[in-house]
Amino acid sequence: MSHVAVIGLGYVGLTMAACLASRRIRTIGVDTDSEKMATLASGRSPIDEPRLEGLISRAVRAKTLQVTQHLGEALRDSEIVFVTVGTPSLPDGSIDLGQVTSASESMGEALREAEGYRLVVVRSTVVPGTCDLTVKPLLEKASGKTCGRDFGLCANPEFLKEGSAVQDMLKPDRLVIGEYDDRSGDVLEKFYRRFYKKDLPTVIRTTPANAELIKYANNAFLATKISFINMMANLCERIQGCDVEKIAEGIGLDQRIGPLFLRAGLGWGGSCFLKDLKAILAFAKGQSIELPILDAALRVNMLQPLWAVQTARKALGSLQGRHVAILGLAFKPDTDDLREAVSVKIIDHLLQDGAIVNAYDPAAMQNARAVFGDKIIYSNTAEECVRDADCCILVTEWKEFQRIQPEDFKRLMRKSVVIDGRRIYDPRKFSARVEFYAVGLGER
Ligand SMILES: NC(=O)c1ccc[n+]([C@@H]2O[C@H](COP(=O)([O-])OP(=O)(O)OC[C@H]3O[C@@H](n4cnc5c(N)ncnc54)[C@H](O)[C@@H]3O)[C@@H](O)[C@H]2O)c1
Repeated sequence: MSHVAVIGLGYVGLTMAACLASRRIRTIGVDTDSEKMATLASGRSPIDEPRLEGLISRAVRAKTLQVTQHLGEALRDSEIVFVTVGTPSLPDGSIDLGQVTSASESMGEALREAEGYRLVVVRSTVVPGTCDLTVKPLLEKASGKTCGRDFGLCANPEFLKEGSAVQDMLKPDRLVIGEYDDRSGDVLEKFYRRFYKKDLPTVIRTTPANAELIKYANNAFLATKISFINMMANLCERIQGCDVEKIAEGIGLDQRIGPLFLRAGLGWGGSCFLKDLKAILAFAKGQSIELPILDAALRVNMLQPLWAVQTARKALGSLQGRHVAILGLAFKPDTDDLREAVSVKIIDHLLQDGAIVNAYDPAAMQNARAVFGDKIIYSNTAEECVRDADCCILVTEWKEFQRIQPEDFKRLMRKSVVIDGRRIYDPRKFSARVEFYAVGLGER
């Protein structure tokens, strides 16, 4: 029995399954989405993520990666079962554990039939106490077996970033193992030692609740760091001669601070930061404790995309009937993911103001059509997007946009107002040739 099962084949589960299978670990992926299963069975990736499709197609051909909709079948042959189902937000911001509970019940039923020891590893992001108070009782009830004796349980959060998911899985900064008991932690650590070999990162072994909270504290800290520099960006704009890029450079060289996650911009998007911040705030509320720094980080982030709209209004006066080009729609470069993307907020406000919006993204056009329908115009290239526009807002910092020169904007646009929401353009070069605004750039 040398198989591993991965339950829930979204960004996290699919990346994990493909990486494990690429190193000859026989992996069975389980998902309830039949369309996704069909795509995977043919060796293709249902999500756009660098290197992923290559890994999937090779592993499917080599038969180290198999997929099924039957959890019982997967668990029969697998000693370790990774749970990577989604944990979305409920309307009040708290975590929706529906997928985790339903997967736990199904696993419990499958465990009833299984012979020998199994280890269940919760890799989904779940609030502290979920493994001990939700997953364990459900597994025990459905299986009629006892945690610690018949099966093991670990919380083992995932820290990957969309856009570099494969790289992050293959070279994580650390592994956090929250173990129900020593045996559970030993089995998981041994597995990772086999997988990472000489590249094994630092392993932290702790309680499941600590592991669960480490994941939230991690994302909350990163989100706060970005909101901090965006707050500074807003201050810089009011001070002649100030530029947030220099402030970030100056403080980032302090080793206690570090340079990463100090890029001022239009705020963070994506499926994780907002969801996780809301979940930990709702969880803390349930414990009658406030987390005021996180409240503030959230508030700064809600207002930040509006900077782009306000700047467009400042430059053009009324936006009614004005053509606004949006470069970049995905929540960050190298992904087609539009979940909680700031582009959505910005475009909504522009449309409310009566602007005519034309958008281009190198990867997210298909997803964008599902979000905006016929409310906006879609372009096939950046050049087509900015042609005859009154204003261009750079929303996502894709590499190909860095190559656009101020002369290009000047030549193509009707009125060359360029709003750099991600600080990819050189202010000196651009200000000399177009009407240029950049987040965190004070008057010179
Ligand atoms: N996406 C990220 O960048 C990221 C990074 C770190 C951690 N996480 C966390 O990892 C978890 C998974 O995230 P994701 O983005 O991969 O989610 P996702 O929503 O993209 O994928 C979840 C998958 O689980 C499947 N599923 C749901 N219930 C199931 C069941 N009972 N049995 C089998 N399959 C089932 C769904 O069909 C879906 O394919 C979440 O808790 C998330 O917060 C995500």
